[in-house]
Amino acid sequence: MGKQRVLSGIQPTGNLHLGNYLGAIRNWVEGQSQYDNFFCVVDLHAITAPHNPKTLAIDTYTIAALYLACGIDLQSSNIFVQSHVSAHSELTWLLNCITPLNWLEDMIQFKEKAVKQGENVNVGLLDYPVLMAADILLYQADKVPVGEDQKQHLELTRDIAARFNHQFGKQKPVLKLPEPLIRKEGARVMSLTDGTRKMSKSDPSEMSRINLLDSPEQIQQKIKRCKTDPIRGLTFDDGERPESHNLLTLYMLLAGKTKQEVATECQDMGWGQFKPLLAETAIAALKPIQEKYQAVMDDKGYLESVLRDGRQKAEAIANLTLSQVKAALGYSVPL
Ligand code: TRP
Repeated sequence: MGKQRVLSGIQPTGNLHLGNYLGAIRNWVEGQSQYDNFFCVVDLHAITAPHNPKTLAIDTYTIAALYLACGIDLQSSNIFVQSHVSAHSELTWLLNCITPLNWLEDMIQFKEKAVKQGENVNVGLLDYPVLMAADILLYQADKVPVGEDQKQHLELTRDIAARFNHQFGKQKPVLKLPEPLIRKEGARVMSLTDGTRKMSKSDPSEMSRINLLDSPEQIQQKIKRCKTDPIRGLTFDDGERPESHNLLTLYMLLAGKTKQEVATECQDMGWGQFKPLLAETAIAALKPIQEKYQAVMDDKGYLESVLRDGRQKAEAIANLTLSQVKAALGYSVPL
């Protein structure tokens, strides 16, 4: 039996930050040799909110280069761009026609984003989870690494696949139902300005996150000014001391230490002592990623060849699934 297949993706909107790295990409990297992996840059998802056409392509390349810089290994993983594989859009349409509208209206993320976007909610925002389902189902993925906020979308993906199989795959199921790949505990990174909220690309304040490509000076500034509490001695305590908990967690993950080691090391420290230590650790942890990123971006030809290769491998699988779906729906074969 071959390896199980993993698929995941990140949108090319804004910079990747420590939350993306420690909460997602680092886990992809750690687990990659066990699986046959497809990591895409989901640029079709990026236009569900207002976007800048001038930067979309470069933002897409940046994410792909960061995948490589963070240690995605082409021996076991493929990196590709969602919009380069047209089957994603096509399967989305086909799945749209079997997805009940109220399933989409019930999605928590849709409801939250719709409130933020106000009156002008486009159909794409509502349809976003069907596109995500298409991303996953096209590759007959066994496992999808997802955070808390995407679990409902993965559940929906399973519901859509089951419904399709029920309606059109009676003899033989057409689509595989994916399982979530739950990450290790402790990798939830919170905002630097509010320890109760997730570190997020959409937070208007740059001070709330450390981007993977921030300079040492920016990292120092952000940590120097981040929110803390007035209690002396630092402890892990996500109930009472969200900021202390988050900053110690960050330190633990970036330094590669255990929770116990960090708890002991920091129990008598004050913020004045801890902050420079955290800044130094973050700068050192990001340095090799930034260097590799620069090397990849300086060699456009290499990056293009990685994405061309990734597209070819992705297309071979995606087009096969798409043709099976179309056959199950009764479409004629194009002449
Ligand atoms: N919606 C996901 C997010 O915002 C990104 C995504 C799109 C994705 N397609 C996917 C994640 C397929 C996993 C699998 O994080």
